[in-house]
Amino acid sequence: MLESKLSPSMMCVDFANLSKTVEAFEEAGIEYLHVDIMDGEFVPNFTLGVDFCNKLRNMTTIPLDIHLMIEKPENKLDWFQPQPGEYLTVHAESTDHLQRALAKIRSYGAKAMVAINPATPISSLEDILDDVDGVLVMTVNPGFAGQKLVPSMLNKIKRLRNYLDERGYSNVEIEVDGNVSFDNAIKMRQVGANIFVGGTSSVFRGENTLKENVQIMRQIINGEDL
Ligand code: DX5
Ligand code: ZN
Repeated sequence: MLESKLSPSMMCVDFANLSKTVEAFEEAGIEYLHVDIMDGEFVPNFTLGVDFCNKLRNMTTIPLDIHLMIEKPENKLDWFQPQPGEYLTVHAESTDHLQRALAKIRSYGAKAMVAINPATPISSLEDILDDVDGVLVMTVNPGFAGQKLVPSMLNKIKRLRNYLDERGYSNVEIEVDGNVSFDNAIKMRQVGANIFVGGTSSVFRGENTLKENVQIMRQIINGEDL
């Protein structure tokens, strides 16, 4: 089984407390910082950008997990200057040149991830399996925080884990993004996800402190009793 990792979604952070939050994540041993980049074309929203990624890189050694929800990402990767050890995700639906985009990500020494929207079939990955380090399963339609899980995505994660294992790609990771609540994370882990994006429904949930939320998530993704 692949190691479980937590990647808080930085679009959900309280920007007034950005540096304190990042410090708390460092103390808590957070593995990645998930940065959602939306261009108003591929998805109906604008979010973070290149400058924000650089700000985080100057602030912390926690590697970035950059999720590009933009058209033609292969032409814009240079803007982001991907760093070795970072994760860069491009959407299968966002380009006619997916293999080119993935190969380019690897050429920087970064991990190449492909994201698939809820309606995109697993079979669309068939010819790029050698080009990816992981698959990001969108468990909501991309664009906004605070949405509800598309229920059939649990079965999709399970089918994807089997699909990868049967083809000899057990090392390919599965990241889940969208309504990864405490309850949903338990189920997502059971069906084979190993990288968990924590947004408004878990890490940034208002009722508890950040530290408490991270602790709960950590136990859940490690399969420990709460
Ligand atoms: C979109 C984002 C959102 C969000 C995740 O790609 O990554 O899915 O921040 O957090 P939730 O759904 O819990 O608000
Ligand atoms: Zn995301």
